[in-house]
Amino acid sequence: MTEKILAKRDEFLKTQTINQDVPTPKEIPQLELLKRVPRPLRHVKYIPVKNLVFFSKHTTPQFSYETRIKTPIPKDTLIVQVRNSGLNPVDLKIINSYTRNMNREVGIGREFSGVITETGSDVRGQWKEGDEVYGVYFHPTLGVGTAQSSILVAPDKDVILRKPSNIGFQAAAGTLYCLGAARNILDGLESKGQLTPSSNILINGGTTSVAIFAIQLLKYHHRIPKKIVILCSEYGATFLKSQFPDLCDELIFVNYVMNARQIHKPLEDMISNHETISYDATTGQPISSPYDQGKFNVILDFIGGYQLIGHSNSLLEKNGAYVTTVGDYRTNYSKDVFNAWDNPSAGARKIFGKLLWTFDYTHFHFDPNAKYASKNGWAEKCAELVESEVVRCVVDKVYDWKKFEDALDYLKRGHCHGKVILEVERF
Ligand SMILES: NC(=O)c1ccc[n+]([C@@H]2O[C@H](COP(=O)([O-])OP(=O)(O)OC[C@H]3O[C@@H](n4cnc5c(N)ncnc54)[C@H](OP(=O)(O)O)[C@@H]3O)[C@@H](O)[C@H]2O)c1
Repeated sequence: MTEKILAKRDEFLKTQTINQDVPTPKEIPQLELLKRVPRPLRHVKYIPVKNLVFFSKHTTPQFSYETRIKTPIPKDTLIVQVRNSGLNPVDLKIINSYTRNMNREVGIGREFSGVITETGSDVRGQWKEGDEVYGVYFHPTLGVGTAQSSILVAPDKDVILRKPSNIGFQAAAGTLYCLGAARNILDGLESKGQLTPSSNILINGGTTSVAIFAIQLLKYHHRIPKKIVILCSEYGATFLKSQFPDLCDELIFVNYVMNARQIHKPLEDMISNHETISYDATTGQPISSPYDQGKFNVILDFIGGYQLIGHSNSLLEKNGAYVTTVGDYRTNYSKDVFNAWDNPSAGARKIFGKLLWTFDYTHFHFDPNAKYASKNGWAEKCAELVESEVVRCVVDKVYDWKKFEDALDYLKRGHCHGKVILEVERF
C-alpha cells in the first residue's frame, strides 16, 4: 500500500517544499533571579480592633473586626488596650432594648481596665504610654462597649483613673460602676442629712454588687454604728460572712427566699417583737436575738418591687429615705430594658412624694460620665477608697471573652455573688 502511494507521488509538490534552516531558540539572558523584598514602610492609618458586638436581643453576640481606630488620634484622647471588661445588669438591659435587628453593631461592657498604648498631644502631660488604668466607658447610645481589644478614651468625657498596684486588672474592671453608684447614693443621703451616725439602715438585695460596695462604705467609711439589716438568701448570708468576717456581728440577715411573697413580714415582726429570728444551719432550730433598733431611717433597695414601699408606714421612720436603683417593678434581667418607664405611681411618688408620703423617695439613676464626676469628684474619692483598701471589689467569676455566652447567661440568672468579668484578648 505504501509503495503504491509513493509511486503516485506528485513531483510538482516536491519542488514547492522549502527546506528552511531554522536555528534552535536561544535562552533569553537574565541578569539575576527575581527576589522577594520587604514591602516599603507605609504610614499606618488605623489601629485594628476586635470587639464583641450584637445586632439585636434575638441574635447571639459575635466578634467583629469592622471597627478601626483612625490615627493620628484626636489630641484630647488616648487609647487603652483593654485587659478586662466588667459586665453589669445594665449591659443586659441595653441588649434587651434592641428588639429589632439593627444595621449597626452595638458593643458590650461599660467598665474596663487596661494599659495606655497611645496618647493625644493634649493629654500627654497627664497620661503616658504604659500607664495601667481603669474606668467607666458609658456610651450606650453610641453603641460602643469595653469588650473591645482597644478603646478610644476621652478623659474629659470618660472616667479614667490610674490603677493602683494593690488591685489586679480583673478587680479593677469591676470596681467603678457599682462603687460609683453606691458612693453617689450614700453621698446624696449624707448631704441631705439623711445618713447620720444614728441611721438605722435596711438593704434589699444585700449580695447585689452595688450592695456589697454599699455595705463596705457604710461600715468602713461612714462608720455607721448600728447593725445593718440585710435581705438576702441563706447562701448570701454565708457568702457575706466569709467575705467580711469582721462584719459578722454588724449585720442582721433576713432570708428573702423563705419570705419571697411577704418580705415585709419578718421585718415588721422584728420591729414590733423586738427580736430577730434566725435558723441554725444544721438543726434548723430557730434562734432568737434581741432587736432594739426600731424602724428604719434609710431603705436601700437594689431589687425593686412595691412590697417594701407598700408597707413603708410600718417599716420607715417619718422623714426617712427610700432609695431604689430599680423602681416599682422587680428586677428581671431577661426582660428589663434600658431607661424603661417606671410604674406611673412611682412617677407620682416622685412628684407628689412630699405631700402624700411621709418619707423621701428617690429612684436613683447613675450618671457615670466624667462631666458629672468633675462636679462632685466621686471618681477620685472612689479611687482613694480603693487605694487605701477601705473598699474592694469582690469578683465572682472571670470568663475568657470567647466564652461570652456563658458569662452573659450567668449574669442573666441574677444570682451572681460579686462581679462577672471578661478576660479580653490582646489583639
Ligand atoms: N439606676 C442605676 O443607676 C443603677 C446602677 C447600678 C445598678 N442598678 C441596678 O441595680 C440592680 C442591682 O445591680 P447589681 O449589679 O448590684 O446586681 P447583681 O450583682 O446582678 O445582683 C445579683 C444578686 O441579687 C441577689 N438577689 C436576687 N434576687 C433577690 C431578691 N429577690 N432579694 C434579695 N436578693 C436577691 C442574688 O442573691 P441570691 O443568688 O443569693 O439570691 C445575687 O447575689 C440591678 O437591677 C441594676 O440594673 C441601677
